[in-house]
Amino acid sequence: MFKRLLGDRPKNAVSREKTITEEELLKQLDMTKLPEHVAIIMDGNGRWATRRGAPRSFGHRAGVNALREIVKLSVELKLKYLTVYAFSTENWKRPHEEVNILMSLLVEYLNKEIDKLCANNVRIHPMGILSELPEKAREAVDMAIRRSNNNSGLVFNVALNYGGRSELLMAVQEIGQKIISGYIKVEDINDQVIADHLYTAGQPDPDLLIRPSGDYRVSNFLLWQLAYTELWLTDTMWPDFGRKELLQALLDFQLRERRFGGLLHN
Ligand code: FPP
Repeated sequence: MFKRLLGDRPKNAVSREKTITEEELLKQLDMTKLPEHVAIIMDGNGRWATRRGAPRSFGHRAGVNALREIVKLSVELKLKYLTVYAFSTENWKRPHEEVNILMSLLVEYLNKEIDKLCANNVRIHPMGILSELPEKAREAVDMAIRRSNNNSGLVFNVALNYGGRSELLMAVQEIGQKIISGYIKVEDINDQVIADHLYTAGQPDPDLLIRPSGDYRVSNFLLWQLAYTELWLTDTMWPDFGRKELLQALLDFQLRERRFGGLLHN
């Protein structure tokens, strides 16, 4: 079971040899069967840095570089939605210094990349309690939303001060308010109503969740949306996660039989 989750492939499938080139992986990819929505828990920056005797901030900076490459490849492949976990509601528990570094990296990333992202038609859609972010981060996020709002290419969901439980709580509160004001009846609440009150309203659920760094957890990410998402786990730390790893994950995804709780159709 874990082997399957970790992406071991049937004999006739593409090999996971490190020597395989990006071009070879690309050649094997069926461009008509790409996932619409890929979600990523960008984990392992701290360990990656510690193993190199470097401060954790070094790992986070390397993590931003990895993210840049993955966004680029997502655009090239014409993926429709990419969702990354950049800062969780639990990450405030980290030392102040680390939180500050993560926030400065966010500001730096958005300010530096916005022109390129817009040139590539990427729409940035932050998800989370943005009002609690430090002022500079909020300003950068507002700028990125404003500048990219009319873009029609890749929707780039950036989970910031995001928690799956907090998202569901917010949805329940909003729906409750609508019931009180007579706008919705209790008996009318269904899956769609709940989905419409999440940050991902109007978007398909992720087809594929990638978690690097060897941990097998969902970590309060997209708790509602991941119901039937395929998981792809790897020991590679996020800063080392590159184009080849994404291609490998997509190739493995193309071998999965998705049944959504039903029976397999021929
Ligand atoms: C987890 O690694 C990673 C994070 C908490 C932050 C992810 C953020 C980035 C990649 C950079 C900032 C994001 C943007 C959008 C600019 P960890 O620190 O938990 O690693 P560890 O598990 O090895 O300690």
